[in-house]
Amino acid sequence: MKLWGGRFTKETNKLVENFNESLSFDNRFYKQDIRGSIAHVKMLAKQSILTDEERDRIINGLLSIEKDIDNGVLKFDDGSEDIHSYIEAHLIERIGDTGKKLHTGRSRNDQVALDMKLYVRDEIDVLKDLLYELLGEVLRIMEENKSTYMPGFTHLQKAQPTTLAHHFGAYFEMFIRDYDRLCSTRKRMNLSPLGSGAFAGTTYDLDRDYVARLLDFDMATRNSMDSVSDRDYLLELLADLSILSMHLSRLSEEIIIWNTDEYRFVEMDDTYSTGSSIMPQKKNPDIAELIRGKSGRVYGSLISLLTTMKGLPLAYNKDMQEDKEMSFDTIDTVKSLIKLMSGMLSSMKFNNEKMAGSAKGGFTNATDAADYLVKKNVAFRDAHEIVGRLVLYGIENKKALDDFSIEEFKKISEYFDQDIYEAISLKTCVEKRNTKGAPGLKAITEEIEASKRILESLR
Ligand code: ARG
Repeated sequence: MKLWGGRFTKETNKLVENFNESLSFDNRFYKQDIRGSIAHVKMLAKQSILTDEERDRIINGLLSIEKDIDNGVLKFDDGSEDIHSYIEAHLIERIGDTGKKLHTGRSRNDQVALDMKLYVRDEIDVLKDLLYELLGEVLRIMEENKSTYMPGFTHLQKAQPTTLAHHFGAYFEMFIRDYDRLCSTRKRMNLSPLGSGAFAGTTYDLDRDYVARLLDFDMATRNSMDSVSDRDYLLELLADLSILSMHLSRLSEEIIIWNTDEYRFVEMDDTYSTGSSIMPQKKNPDIAELIRGKSGRVYGSLISLLTTMKGLPLAYNKDMQEDKEMSFDTIDTVKSLIKLMSGMLSSMKFNNEKMAGSAKGGFTNATDAADYLVKKNVAFRDAHEIVGRLVLYGIENKKALDDFSIEEFKKISEYFDQDIYEAISLKTCVEKRNTKGAPGLKAITEEIEASKRILESLR
């Protein structure tokens, strides 16, 4: 059934009808549409625009429609233009003329703005819960690996030794910022657009703040024209999820590298790996690769919606219907990315010996050797030069600094003494780094305690 047949004398072209419809994808927020309509009629009755009997008839009709959709008795196959017309048509079919009063003082423009906000708000809460679980998984890895030594990299070249706890601490920070961004997007969007009408409000005496309260919004929006044209909250969400996907992609990239034969820092669980159809020996990190790959489509949605919105004059334009499929796809995608990352991390094994062995190679203690000289009153720039020569000697003779004899040290600089070995041992290099945020045992223990408190404060 159409909601706007009166003015027309001809049937809509079939191609146009198919092109214009949104029921095939906006049916996913039927519950939010019904919830919004119930709040609307409660307010209409409170304001004596509907009688209490009319309100109750409409509410019961809407609830029976919701139940039948839930049970699969009602299907979205009647050719309605969108979920709003679909539900209204079924309401009129079920309860007769009273159903025709539902849309009093309302437009589909404020209705769709409301439904989408209700839907997105619910999904943000799901995303937050999933992210909370992922943060818990990251924290577990940190707690278990305070003294698991590994090389830290810059330019993907071994740089200085660190610990697995410290490395994962960086991801804890990224994901907690992601969590925070979702909270602030949710806070900013939490204003009810209902009662804005097509864009200019209405002459009925609506109580917009009452509806807002019924629907758990902080209050009603201030400007009715902005209410129906604003899609900023979707752009913010897509931006938040783009950044989150970027973080997941970086972690995936590291896992893929760590899982190669050349590194073998990790062993992916069979349940999170796949095989090759031709090479029997292969165990591929497809899931990590797909998490990395899907960031592309998430960014795509952000750019897509920004582009759709950029030329739109106020107020509502049908272009805005395009916000739905990309937002839905992004929300669905990112929900699975977070779930899969949590599962992958919880099933993955770390090869501690391989990581520690790798931390020892590659002259990762060269900075500490230079710092040793500085403590013996050599200027840092000179110390850098001396250790540079040590490294060159080491490369030429295929020796790590730890394996030099004291004579070899002294040949390059008289300042070296027996205590150099202790100063550049892997344990010293890591454990003595105790500036706030560093990998030393004292510093990382404090960081983990703080991270725990942050996580607890989210519940
Ligand atoms: N399906 C439309 C959308 O998603 C609903 C609003 C329609 N409003 C209108 N004036 N045609 O934006």
